Amino acid sequence: MEYKVLSNGIKVPMEGFGVFQVRDKEECKRSVLEAIRAGYRLIDTAASYTNEDAVGEAVREAIAEGICTREELFITSKMWVQDMQNYDMAKKAIDTSLHTLGLEYLDLYLLHQAMKDYFSAWRAMEDAYREGKLRAIGVSNFYPHILTNFCETVEIRPMVNQVETHPYFTQEQALATMNYYGVVPEAWAPLGGGRYSPFTDEMLLGIAAAHGKSVGQVILRWNVQRGVVVIPKSTHKERIEENFHIWDFTLSDEDMAKISSLDMGYQGTAVKHFDPEFIRMCTGRKIHD
Ligand SMILES: NC(=O)c1ccc[n+]([C@@H]2O[C@H](COP(=O)([O-])OP(=O)(O)OC[C@H]3O[C@@H](n4cnc5c(N)ncnc54)[C@H](OP(=O)(O)O)[C@@H]3O)[C@@H](O)[C@H]2O)c1
Repeated sequence: MEYKVLSNGIKVPMEGFGVFQVRDKEECKRSVLEAIRAGYRLIDTAASYTNEDAVGEAVREAIAEGICTREELFITSKMWVQDMQNYDMAKKAIDTSLHTLGLEYLDLYLLHQAMKDYFSAWRAMEDAYREGKLRAIGVSNFYPHILTNFCETVEIRPMVNQVETHPYFTQEQALATMNYYGVVPEAWAPLGGGRYSPFTDEMLLGIAAAHGKSVGQVILRWNVQRGVVVIPKSTHKERIEENFHIWDFTLSDEDMAKISSLDMGYQGTAVKHFDPEFIRMCTGRKIHD
């Protein structure tokens, strides 16, 4: 495992495990436990995934089994838009996530979207960070112009920005902006999120065969070699294990360039951040009363 060092000196593993859309509690708990057993130490959930409780249970079980200590884990969650209405709601949301996870602190907490009053929500994040409830704070889905304005305004700059990035959406400008402000990039949907066809792509299959690896391993490796933290999701034990074995090979500059050439730019296939209807859907989505 390799690590990135955040602007506050905290080490973050470059590969973690995501649990988006794993709504069944037992399946979520089992998958997280399998991931921790396989060697993952970073787990990525969110209040809006409604599985923080299952993640917390898996974490406690892994610690009880002696697989790892709490200090070795890096648990991430995110504040949902509903709670980004004002400072007080945001402050409460942080405590609710901690309570639901059953944790005394989170290693990283993110604003899930640049929606509603994200500046007030950020001030609540800054205060929770100063109080030690959050070891690091960051944002998600902050496009370059939004991140720039944000970094030029806030007191504590975000330490991480979690954005969609994979070979079909390389996000070069987003990475350059994050680099400029010392923000560590983290890739959601690093395998394409099931919306592209990397696993049947001839070029990717060729690179994978040349390294004795799978396409999934190659595209995860491509992102970490660009300095991007990856958080692939799977509910299948063999894929969970396969996705973790990306540390024993290196892609050449030529491989890297070929993989990057798949870039299609912003497609808005899953989340449509430039579509008013999508924004209304997010701002209207309630995860609690
Ligand atoms: N901040 C945000 O707005 C945001 C948005 C989306 C996601 N995320 C985070 O990012 C994480 C990853 O993104 P994601 O879950 O959307 O997409 P992903 O990890 O790119 O892809 C997951 C899909 O790929 C399949 N898969 C996994 N490993 C595979 C392999 N080795 N070979 C073939 N197929 C494989 C999974 O199926 P099986 O499960 O059936 O194996 C699942 O359908 C999420 O879980 C979540 O934590 C954040």
